Amino acid sequence: MLNVGKHTHVEILEKLPSISKQIQEKIDNFGDDENPISIGNLGDIISKHSIWQKRFPRVEPFYAVKCNDVEPVIRILADMGLSFDCASKIEIQKILELGVGPSKIIYANTNKPLSFIKYAADKGVSMMTFDCEDELIKIKKGYPDAKLVLRISPQSNYKVKLDLGKKFGCHPMHTSKLLEMAMKLKLDVIGVSFHVGHGCLETGAFAAAIEQSRKVFDIGLAMGFDMHLLDIGGGFPGEKIQNVETNITFEGIAEVANKALDDYFPEKDVRIIAEPGQYYVSSAFTVAVNIITKKTCTDKEILAPDLDLLSKPTERNEPVRVYYVNDGIYGCFLLCLTDPGCFVPSHFKDTDAELYTSTIWGPTCDSLDLVIDNVKLPELTSGDWIFFKDMGAYSFATASSFNSMPKIKEYFICEKRLWEQVYNANSSEHSCKIEQNE
Ligand SMILES: Cc1ncc(COP(=O)(O)O)c(C=O)c1O
Repeated sequence: MLNVGKHTHVEILEKLPSISKQIQEKIDNFGDDENPISIGNLGDIISKHSIWQKRFPRVEPFYAVKCNDVEPVIRILADMGLSFDCASKIEIQKILELGVGPSKIIYANTNKPLSFIKYAADKGVSMMTFDCEDELIKIKKGYPDAKLVLRISPQSNYKVKLDLGKKFGCHPMHTSKLLEMAMKLKLDVIGVSFHVGHGCLETGAFAAAIEQSRKVFDIGLAMGFDMHLLDIGGGFPGEKIQNVETNITFEGIAEVANKALDDYFPEKDVRIIAEPGQYYVSSAFTVAVNIITKKTCTDKEILAPDLDLLSKPTERNEPVRVYYVNDGIYGCFLLCLTDPGCFVPSHFKDTDAELYTSTIWGPTCDSLDLVIDNVKLPELTSGDWIFFKDMGAYSFATASSFNSMPKIKEYFICEKRLWEQVYNANSSEHSCKIEQNE
């Protein structure tokens, strides 16, 4: 067992047991406590980084801290030499406190309070994004020497689950005007960025955005800016359970994006960076929840939202099993609101157990708090546990204290051979960061 940070332990194991065995072991040691639990496999994050380096040799990852900022995650990423995308003063502070230098941070929020800009100036975090005139005026006041990256909103019809372009980014048509204003203010624009959106469903979105970035890049060069950076944002999938709707993979995106980079940015002195969040952490985390209450509903009493189940009989005309579990959208399952069915439950019953149409609700007194509707599960009872894989992204980072439900209990594990890829077994090099447990 090793200590990471102030309160967190990492269990280093020769070989990892199956995830259901790991959860079972934690639950067995719980006693009467039924808090939801999470198991974070840091080895998974180490492997993801190796894959990134292999598939994206030209693209430097700046991990998007907002996605999952638990200390063992950001620490291991820092120790592997990653850079970081920060969205606020506190995120910058957290990353600097790990000993990461300011040049390894991009402040990639296009809406920055003036005091945060001044904080970035004070700490020397010079790279930051902008997408409008007002932001340029604030930056001129707070950090006139900042290195600016113009975020565009790529225009295409490629499908994504959550389009960020509605809220962020300058329409490519308006970029000249914005760059002229930056020139007038004597600000230093060094490049272009975009984010294709969360849950990119078509690899072509990256190629289109890279092509549009090139046009903006050239406008900047023609105006006399020293354009030398392209930031291809986030949106790279990180789940183990592949998206069956599209079959889109990280490898598929990398192939398309690499080709577009070679086509549109062949110059080797253009620095290419990205802001992956979910890619690094989704598959590393599993969350287990406990069933508080079960109902078996045979008629229109069933409380289910899109209530397909109300109007249509279930396949076999059977009663629907309704479970209330101890974590929901106000805890780790916020993504269920925007992407229903994104987390699929697993159980500890026999694999050949009969399955029933079921609905899973979260624990709060709010009817928005639905984890999943119309899913097949064996017969479960209150006190039973179920678990969800691929829970590392936008889960712990977005959890609230609504209804003051118990906080999730966090565990961290790592396979020894992967741990030793980052921390030499006999070296004291990292002893200030990772201390042997007494
Ligand atoms: C500016 C920016 N960069 C990167 C990310 C990370 O995106 P993803 O987790 O889809 O890789 C986000 C997510 O909201 C973002 O807003």
